[in-house]
Order: sequence, then C-alpha cells, then structure tokens
Amino acid sequence: MKGFSIKTEIEEYDTFEQFAKEAQLGEKDLVLCGEHTYKQYVEPLSLGVQTLFREKYGKGEPTDGAVDAILDALRDKNFDRIVAIGGGTVIDIAKAVAVAAPEDKVDDLYDHVSELEKRHPLIIVPTTCGTGSEVTNISVMNRVSKGVKMGLASDAMLADKAVLITNLLDSMPYQVFATSSIDAMVHSAESFLSPNGCSISRLFSSEALKLILTCWDKVVKEGGEEAWKRYAAEFLEASNWAGLGFGYAGCAAVHACAYPLGSVYHIPHGQSNQLMFQDVMKMYKKLCPDGRINELEALIAESLHVTPDTSLETLYALMDKVLKKAPLKEFGVRESDLAQFAKDVIQTQQRLLRNNYVELTEEQILEIYRAAF
Ligand SMILES: [Fe+2]
Repeated sequence: MKGFSIKTEIEEYDTFEQFAKEAQLGEKDLVLCGEHTYKQYVEPLSLGVQTLFREKYGKGEPTDGAVDAILDALRDKNFDRIVAIGGGTVIDIAKAVAVAAPEDKVDDLYDHVSELEKRHPLIIVPTTCGTGSEVTNISVMNRVSKGVKMGLASDAMLADKAVLITNLLDSMPYQVFATSSIDAMVHSAESFLSPNGCSISRLFSSEALKLILTCWDKVVKEGGEEAWKRYAAEFLEASNWAGLGFGYAGCAAVHACAYPLGSVYHIPHGQSNQLMFQDVMKMYKKLCPDGRINELEALIAESLHVTPDTSLETLYALMDKVLKKAPLKEFGVRESDLAQFAKDVIQTQQRLLRNNYVELTEEQILEIYRAAF
C-alpha cells in the first residue's frame, strides 16, 4: 500500500526578492518562465541567472513538439538547478526538462516512464492559483504526434522545493484567476471523492474546497474583477492543498473528459474542467446517490450556508458567476466529435478513470458529453 508523504519542501514568502536571496539564485540556475514574469520579478534583481522563455517555443499548453525544441535548445547549456516560475505550462515543461537525459525526446520520457531519474534539482514557483502542480508528480502534455493530451507521472518529477509567493499573483488577469481557481476546485472535489484517497489526502482536499468556496462567495459578493486579489494568498494556499490532495488520491472523470476539449479545441484547462464538472457530478449522483458524495455535499453546504440537498446546484451557480459556463457547441465542438471523445477517454485516460467515484462506461461518458453539448 502506498503511504501518504510530502516529498517536496514547501516554502512561503511575501516577495520574490526574499526568495531569490534565501535560495541564492545565480549563474548556475536556469530560470524557466514567461518573458513578462522575468522582466517584472527577476531582471530587476540582476541575479545573473540563465533563462529560457516559454513563449519562444509556442503559445498555450505544452506540446511534444515545443518540449522537444526546448530540450534541443538546452542541450549545450550548463546549468544546475531548474527554477520554474509560471503557471501549468511552465511547470509541466520544467518537470520534463528535469528528468530528460541528454539525448531524450518527449516520446522517450513516455516510453520509459518507470526508469525516469531526476537530472537537475527542481524548484517550482507557481504564478497562478490552480494547478497545484508544484507538489505533484505529473506533467501533462498535448502529444500532437499521437493526437492525445496525456499525463506523464513519475516521482522523479516531484519538485525538491515548491515556493509560494503571493505577490507573483499580482499581475494575473481575471480570466486566469477564474480558470485556475476552477481547476483547483475540481482537483479538490475529484480527489475528495476518489476511492484511492486516504484520511490525510481528504484533509487537504476538503480544506482546499472549503477555502476556495468561501473565498469565491466573498469575491462574487464584493463584485468587480479585482475583488479576488484581496484573497490571492488564500487561493494560492488552497490550490497547493488541492495539489497535495490530488497528488495522492488522483483526479478523475472531470479531468479525463476535459482533456480532449483541451487537445482538440484548445479550451484552457480550468475552463474545460468547468464544462464537464456539472454533468459528471450529475451522473455520479444518478448512479450512486449515497456515499462519499454526501460528504462532499455537506462540505459545500457548510461553506456556502445552504442545505446539503441544494449544495451542488448552489456550487454550479456560484461557479457560473466566477466564469460564465457555456455549452460545448459554443466552443466549436461538433456533435459528431462526442462519440470519438468518449472512446478516446476510455482508451487513453485510464490513469484518471481509476479514481472515479463510480466506474463509468463509454456509453455513460458519451451521455455526459451529450448533456454538456
Ligand atoms: Fe487540473
């Protein structure tokens, strides 16, 4: 049996400068980030670090082609630690770079996942409040060559250090706050329901869920696109706790069904989760109305001051105020795609589906897609 452990050291700072001083960042370090982040937080400190800017290798979520190009570009560089400062994309790329041998390509990492070893110490500094990826062993890439978005999971990719710095969230646009906090909420709910969780992982999942819901409630009541900034520290903490929860218990059908929306229609990760969340939960309730889902309803009810029987509907309505949900067809998804999506999910996402609250068949997954369409 796998025991719960936290292998990553987690540090908290108020400012990036404090962290840079404590970590003694310098010329042997490779900072992987977006150029905007570099200019705002790193460059003014004149640290002499080496850099790699993600946007030079393509926009959006990481693809196998982009990561292969990055591995090529780094081949002749001599660096020790990797310091990833960014959202999910930057972190996913950094995890792959940290375990890649000199001649490896992305396909080699997927083909030899059980033999991966860490080649560089890895420090992860998140700049969004969603992925929790700073404490998980998963890197997700769109394998364009295989036509599938897929997670690569290995403990070799666990960060040595995760660093939470509230002021790095300062420049995050509202849309990124919305999609990333939705992602963290889905991590907490899916990991809470996972049959592969334990009492400790559920503690992280439930505390994350409660903190996200109470803060969303305040943000919506206070109104305006800036209100979330008052709770940036809480959202950053909650996404980290959700990461600790799902790092052990796993994510499940919501993520599995969302992946094709990301790989085919390039819908941002958190938003694609939102599009699937409600209909997956409705299917769970239909198939197994009594079980841990009642504990989830009780947690939501406590956080939002409603009764358990109205809790999920209240959550859907609150999430809709954080980010307006729309049917899949409004994102260009075609009805004819749905059957293929359901088939692909069964074929390629078993790593996630094994964590479902209830086992789902291909037909039931198709029904979920149709409901969301
Ligand atoms: Fe996620």
